[in-house]
Amino acid sequence: MEKQDKNRPNIVLVGFMGTGKTSIGRRLATQLRMRYVDTDDIIERDSGRRISDIFSVDGEETFRELESEAVRKASKLCNYVISTGGGVVLRETNMAELRRNGIIFCLTATPEEIYRRVRHQSHRPLLQTPDPLTKIRLMLEDRHPYYVKADYMVETTGRSFGEVMAYIKRVFKKC
Ligand code: S3P
Repeated sequence: MEKQDKNRPNIVLVGFMGTGKTSIGRRLATQLRMRYVDTDDIIERDSGRRISDIFSVDGEETFRELESEAVRKASKLCNYVISTGGGVVLRETNMAELRRNGIIFCLTATPEEIYRRVRHQSHRPLLQTPDPLTKIRLMLEDRHPYYVKADYMVETTGRSFGEVMAYIKRVFKKC
Protein backbone atom coordinates (compact mmCIF):
# COMPACT_ATOMS: atom_id res chain seq x y z
CA MET A 1 0.00 0.00 0.00
CA GLU A 2 1.22 3.48 -0.87
CA LYS A 3 1.41 6.29 1.63
CA GLN A 4 -1.18 9.00 1.05
CA ASP A 5 0.23 12.41 0.17
CA LYS A 6 -2.19 15.30 -0.16
CA ASN A 7 0.30 17.37 -2.19
CA ARG A 8 0.81 14.81 -4.90
CA PRO A 9 -0.09 15.97 -8.40
CA ASN A 10 -2.92 14.31 -10.26
CA ILE A 11 -2.52 11.43 -12.66
CA VAL A 12 -4.48 12.41 -15.76
CA LEU A 13 -5.50 9.70 -18.23
CA VAL A 14 -6.35 10.74 -21.77
CA GLY A 15 -6.76 8.56 -24.84
CA PHE A 16 -9.20 7.26 -27.38
CA MET A 17 -12.42 5.48 -26.38
CA GLY A 18 -11.73 1.91 -25.33
CA THR A 19 -8.09 2.39 -24.39
CA GLY A 20 -8.83 1.49 -20.76
CA LYS A 21 -8.85 4.89 -19.03
CA THR A 22 -11.67 3.97 -16.64
CA SER A 23 -10.53 0.43 -15.81
CA ILE A 24 -6.92 1.45 -15.31
CA GLY A 25 -7.78 4.74 -13.60
CA ARG A 26 -9.94 3.11 -10.94
CA ARG A 27 -7.34 0.45 -10.20
CA LEU A 28 -4.51 2.98 -10.05
CA ALA A 29 -6.44 5.16 -7.63
CA THR A 30 -7.03 2.20 -5.32
CA GLN A 31 -3.41 1.06 -5.42
CA LEU A 32 -1.93 4.53 -4.96
CA ARG A 33 -4.54 5.54 -2.36
CA MET A 34 -5.64 8.45 -4.51
CA ARG A 35 -9.20 9.47 -5.30
CA TYR A 36 -10.78 8.88 -8.68
CA VAL A 37 -12.90 11.08 -10.92
CA ASP A 38 -14.04 10.83 -14.52
CA THR A 39 -14.91 13.98 -16.49
CA ASP A 40 -17.79 12.17 -18.24
CA ASP A 41 -19.26 11.36 -14.80
CA ILE A 42 -18.95 15.02 -13.75
CA ILE A 43 -20.85 16.05 -16.90
CA GLU A 44 -23.61 13.51 -16.29
CA ARG A 45 -23.87 14.35 -12.60
CA ASP A 46 -23.94 18.15 -13.10
CA SER A 47 -26.36 18.10 -16.03
CA GLY A 48 -28.49 15.23 -14.75
CA ARG A 49 -28.35 13.78 -18.28
CA ARG A 50 -26.66 10.96 -20.12
CA ILE A 51 -23.83 11.80 -22.52
CA SER A 52 -25.74 10.13 -25.38
CA ASP A 53 -28.75 12.34 -24.66
CA ILE A 54 -26.63 15.52 -24.70
CA PHE A 55 -25.12 14.47 -28.06
CA SER A 56 -28.43 13.59 -29.68
CA VAL A 57 -30.47 16.55 -28.38
CA ASP A 58 -27.92 19.39 -28.21
CA GLY A 59 -25.07 18.18 -30.41
CA GLU A 60 -21.35 17.70 -29.97
CA GLU A 61 -20.45 21.38 -29.54
CA THR A 62 -22.65 21.68 -26.45
CA PHE A 63 -21.10 18.50 -25.10
CA ARG A 64 -17.59 19.97 -25.63
CA GLU A 65 -18.57 23.07 -23.65
CA LEU A 66 -19.82 20.94 -20.76
CA GLU A 67 -16.66 18.86 -21.02
CA SER A 68 -14.43 21.93 -20.69
CA GLU A 69 -16.42 22.99 -17.64
CA ALA A 70 -15.90 19.52 -16.13
CA VAL A 71 -12.17 19.73 -16.90
CA ARG A 72 -11.94 23.09 -15.10
CA LYS A 73 -13.51 21.51 -12.03
CA ALA A 74 -11.37 18.37 -12.13
CA SER A 75 -8.17 20.38 -12.59
CA LYS A 76 -8.69 22.11 -9.26
CA LEU A 77 -8.38 18.76 -7.46
CA CYS A 78 -5.25 17.35 -5.86
CA ASN A 79 -4.14 13.73 -5.38
CA TYR A 80 -6.69 12.41 -7.87
CA VAL A 81 -6.59 10.04 -10.78
CA ILE A 82 -8.57 11.95 -13.41
CA SER A 83 -9.96 9.94 -16.28
CA THR A 84 -11.19 11.95 -19.26
CA GLY A 85 -13.40 11.49 -22.32
CA GLY A 86 -11.60 10.56 -25.53
CA GLY A 87 -12.09 13.99 -27.10
CA VAL A 88 -10.78 16.07 -24.22
CA VAL A 89 -7.46 16.53 -26.04
CA LEU A 90 -9.15 18.44 -28.87
CA ARG A 91 -9.14 21.71 -26.94
CA GLU A 92 -5.74 23.09 -26.02
CA THR A 93 -7.32 24.88 -23.05
CA ASN A 94 -8.41 21.53 -21.59
CA MET A 95 -4.87 20.20 -21.81
CA ALA A 96 -3.43 23.37 -20.25
CA GLU A 97 -5.86 23.10 -17.30
CA LEU A 98 -5.14 19.41 -16.75
CA ARG A 99 -1.38 19.95 -16.96
CA ARG A 100 -1.33 22.65 -14.27
CA ASN A 101 -1.46 20.09 -11.49
CA GLY A 102 -1.22 16.80 -13.34
CA ILE A 103 1.00 14.44 -15.25
CA ILE A 104 -0.80 13.49 -18.45
CA PHE A 105 -0.62 9.89 -19.64
CA CYS A 106 -2.15 8.98 -22.99
CA LEU A 107 -3.32 5.38 -23.24
CA THR A 108 -3.14 3.97 -26.76
CA ALA A 109 -4.28 0.83 -28.54
CA THR A 110 -4.53 -0.35 -32.14
CA PRO A 111 -7.83 0.32 -33.99
CA GLU A 112 -8.53 -3.44 -34.11
CA GLU A 113 -8.01 -3.80 -30.37
CA ILE A 114 -10.20 -0.76 -29.64
CA TYR A 115 -12.92 -2.21 -31.84
CA ARG A 116 -12.66 -5.56 -30.06
CA ARG A 117 -13.07 -3.84 -26.69
CA VAL A 118 -16.00 -1.55 -27.58
CA ARG A 119 -17.99 -3.55 -30.13
CA HIS A 120 -20.58 -4.84 -27.65
CA GLN A 121 -21.06 -1.45 -25.98
CA SER A 122 -23.69 1.05 -27.07
CA HIS A 123 -23.15 4.12 -24.84
CA ARG A 124 -20.69 5.96 -27.11
CA PRO A 125 -22.61 8.15 -29.58
CA LEU A 126 -19.60 8.69 -31.87
CA LEU A 127 -19.27 4.95 -32.53
CA GLN A 128 -22.93 4.27 -33.31
CA THR A 129 -22.29 3.86 -37.02
CA PRO A 130 -22.64 0.95 -39.46
CA ASP A 131 -18.84 0.59 -39.73
CA PRO A 132 -17.30 1.43 -36.35
CA LEU A 133 -13.84 0.04 -37.20
CA THR A 134 -13.43 2.46 -40.12
CA LYS A 135 -14.69 5.31 -37.95
CA ILE A 136 -12.18 4.37 -35.23
CA ARG A 137 -9.33 4.36 -37.78
CA LEU A 138 -10.32 7.77 -39.17
CA MET A 139 -10.81 9.36 -35.76
CA LEU A 140 -7.49 8.00 -34.48
CA GLU A 141 -5.72 9.49 -37.47
CA ASP A 142 -7.42 12.87 -36.98
CA ARG A 143 -6.69 12.93 -33.28
CA HIS A 144 -3.15 11.62 -33.36
CA PRO A 145 -1.56 15.11 -33.32
CA TYR A 146 -3.57 15.92 -30.19
CA TYR A 147 -2.91 12.71 -28.28
CA VAL A 148 0.85 13.01 -28.70
CA LYS A 149 0.76 16.23 -26.69
CA ALA A 150 0.43 14.13 -23.53
CA ASP A 151 3.48 13.89 -21.28
CA TYR A 152 3.73 10.11 -21.73
CA MET A 153 2.29 7.66 -24.27
CA VAL A 154 1.35 4.23 -22.92
CA GLU A 155 0.55 1.38 -25.34
CA THR A 156 -2.04 -1.00 -23.90
CA THR A 157 -2.46 -3.50 -26.76
CA GLY A 158 -1.22 -6.90 -25.64
CA ARG A 159 -0.49 -5.62 -22.12
CA SER A 160 -2.30 -6.53 -18.92
CA PHE A 161 -3.76 -3.88 -16.60
CA GLY A 162 -0.93 -4.77 -14.20
CA GLU A 163 1.77 -4.07 -16.79
CA VAL A 164 0.24 -0.75 -17.82
CA MET A 165 -0.22 0.32 -14.22
CA ALA A 166 3.32 -0.68 -13.26
CA TYR A 167 4.68 1.61 -15.99
CA ILE A 168 2.49 4.56 -14.95
CA LYS A 169 3.37 4.12 -11.28
CA ARG A 170 7.08 3.95 -12.06
CA VAL A 171 6.96 7.18 -14.07
CA PHE A 172 4.69 8.95 -11.59
CA LYS A 173 6.97 8.17 -8.63
CA LYS A 174 9.82 9.97 -10.36
CA CYS A 175 7.73 13.11 -11.00
C1 S3P B 1 -15.83 10.81 -26.63
C2 S3P B 1 -15.48 9.83 -25.73
C3 S3P B 1 -16.37 9.41 -24.63
C4 S3P B 1 -17.34 10.54 -24.27
C5 S3P B 1 -18.07 11.02 -25.48
C6 S3P B 1 -17.12 11.55 -26.55
C7 S3P B 1 -14.89 11.17 -27.73
O1 S3P B 1 -15.61 9.06 -23.48
O2 S3P B 1 -16.65 11.59 -23.66
O3 S3P B 1 -18.85 9.96 -25.96
O4 S3P B 1 -15.06 12.24 -28.35
O5 S3P B 1 -13.93 10.40 -27.96
P1 S3P B 1 -14.74 7.69 -23.35
O6 S3P B 1 -13.42 7.95 -24.03
O7 S3P B 1 -14.57 7.52 -21.89
O8 S3P B 1 -15.52 6.60 -23.99
